[in-house]
Amino acid sequence: MSSINPRAVQIEAEVVSNKKVGAYHHMVFSVEGMAASARPGNFVAISVGGESTGLVLRRAFAIYRATDKSLPAGSNGLIELVIAPHGQGSTWLASRQVHEKVNMVGPLGTSFGIPTEPVRALLVGGGYGSAPLFGLAELLKSRGCRVDMVLGASSAGKIYAPLEGKRSVSSMTITTDDGSAGLQGRVSDALPQLIEENESEIIYSCGPMAMLQAIQAIADKYNLLHQASVEESMACGIGVCMTCVVPLRGSDGVVRMSRTCIDGPVMDGSNVIWDSQRRIPEGTWGA
Ligand SMILES: Cc1cc2nc3c(=O)[nH]c(=O)nc-3n(C[C@H](O)[C@H](O)[C@H](O)COP(=O)(O)OP(=O)(O)OC[C@H]3O[C@@H](n4cnc5c(N)ncnc54)[C@H](O)[C@@H]3O)c2cc1C
Ligand code: FES
Repeated sequence: MSSINPRAVQIEAEVVSNKKVGAYHHMVFSVEGMAASARPGNFVAISVGGESTGLVLRRAFAIYRATDKSLPAGSNGLIELVIAPHGQGSTWLASRQVHEKVNMVGPLGTSFGIPTEPVRALLVGGGYGSAPLFGLAELLKSRGCRVDMVLGASSAGKIYAPLEGKRSVSSMTITTDDGSAGLQGRVSDALPQLIEENESEIIYSCGPMAMLQAIQAIADKYNLLHQASVEESMACGIGVCMTCVVPLRGSDGVVRMSRTCIDGPVMDGSNVIWDSQRRIPEGTWGA
C-alpha cells in the first residue's frame, strides 16, 4: 500500500532569495532539516495566498536543489525552487520577498532511482521540467555516470539552464519550438541522434505529459529504461483526493489508477498507460 513520503515535514520556510531568471523565479528557502532528507525528484507542496486566502489547495513544486552538508553547523538547510508564475498561486509565490515565510510540506513523492554502476544517462526536460534534473545530474556525475542533457521549451526565455547547472553535465542540447535558441523543433526530435551518439542506457525525464509519452515511444524503440517524473495536476499532494491519478500497470500486470503524488511523481515510464487520454482504460482494477 503506497503512503506519503515518511520523511515529509510541515514547516514555515523563510524566503532567503528570489531572483527573476528569464520567464522564471529562482527562489531559495531556509527549511530547517527538510533539505537533508530531500532527494532528486521529490517535490514540496506550498500554501499560497496568505492567511485569509480563498486559494485552499497547496501548489506542488519540484525541488531544484537541496543543500545541507556544506553549511556551517547550526545553519538551516536550503531548498531551491524554480517557479513559472502564471496562475494566482504561482504568481503569489513568485512575488514573496526575502524574510517572508510560506507554509511548506516536503519532501514529497518518489525520487529518481540511481543505478548502482556508472551508466550513460540522458536527461530530458521540458520548460520548468528542467528543475529536478540538475540535482539529479550532480548526483549521477558524482557516481561516475556520463550525463547528457537536453532541454526544450516553446521559446528561448522559457529554457531554464543556469551556468552552474551546465557544469554538471557532459553535453547540453537546447531545443525551442520557434527556433529562438538551439535546434528548432520539439525536444523529442533531438533524442534519436543523441541516444545513438552518446550510447545512452537510461532516460530520465520531466515535463508535460505529451512530451513524456513521446519519450516513452523512443525509449521503447531503443529498448531503454525510462524514469519519468509525471507532473499530473495535484490538489492535495499527499494522497488524499485522487486528483492526480494515472493508469499504471503493476508488476502483477494489473492496471490501477495510481496517485502520482505518492506513487510518483517519478515512475517507470514503461508502466504508465500514456494513451488513456485521461479516461480510465477498460480492464482497470476496480473500474
Ligand atoms: C510534482 C509537480 C512538480 C511541479 N514542479 C513545478 C516547478 O518546479 N515549477 C513550476 O513553476 N511549476 C511546477 N509544477 C506546476 C505547479 O504546481 C502549477 O503550475 C501550480 O499549481 C499552478 O498554480 P496556480 O495557482 O498558479 O495556477 P492555477 O492554474 O490557477 O491553479 C492550479 C491549481 O488548481 C488545482 N487543480 C488543478 N486541477 C485540479 C482538479 N482537477 N481538481 C481540483 N483542483 C485542481 C491544483 O491545486 C493546482 O495546483 C509542478 C506540478 C507538479 C504536480
Ligand atoms: S494530489 Fe491528492 S491524491 Fe494526489
